[in-house]
Amino acid sequence: MTEPLLPAAQTPHVLDFISHSQAQTERIGMRLGQLLRAGDLVLLSGPLGAGKTHLIKGIARGLGYDGPVTSPTFVLINEYRADAAHGRLPIYHVDLYRVSDVTELATIGLEEIWLADGVCLVEWPERAAAALPPENLQIALSYVSETKRRLRLMPRGARYQALLATFKEATFG
Ligand SMILES: Nc1ncnc2c1ncn2[C@@H]1O[C@H](COP(=O)(O)OP(=O)(O)OP(=O)(O)O)[C@@H](O)[C@H]1O
Ligand SMILES: [Mg+2]
Repeated sequence: MTEPLLPAAQTPHVLDFISHSQAQTERIGMRLGQLLRAGDLVLLSGPLGAGKTHLIKGIARGLGYDGPVTSPTFVLINEYRADAAHGRLPIYHVDLYRVSDVTELATIGLEEIWLADGVCLVEWPERAAAALPPENLQIALSYVSETKRRLRLMPRGARYQALLATFKEATFG
């Protein structure tokens, strides 16, 4: 008998741990970024100040991008560029905090971004839950103390389960 399908949050693939500093969060992001490839979608949820942007900064560093990483404000999307070793992939850093209505997404062309040949990193994905592709890596960040954050990585779909397995191996042995 085959096992019944479970939502990602109930599968053994979930990875849950504490980051003890901003620097550690960035290092974790860097490890993850090194494994990303064109078409990957990472959703980062958690309250204001949870560390989403710092984790994305690490991810961008892992892809060889050295420039500034800040939450996109008025434009909603920042575009960075991976280095040659990572195929000079476009890195799309999206922040949906200010989006109040899913119909707004059409006007910023977000769907084209998901279909494009880059890595897409989304803060505040819950603002667009209905419009998001179902396969992605969700990372939920939460506040533990002034310097500590809990990170919960939840893969949805085979690509992201494989990605998380590789990440686990590379990071924790
Ligand atoms: N372990 C940690 N990991 C990440 N950030 C931390 C940690 N400890 C403290 N911090 C601090 O928490 C803040 C996180 O800010 P950041 O902009 O990354 O949050 P955010 O989740 O993107 O918030 P927003 O929703 O406002 O964009 C920074 O000031 C950072 O220095
Ligand atoms: Mg942010």
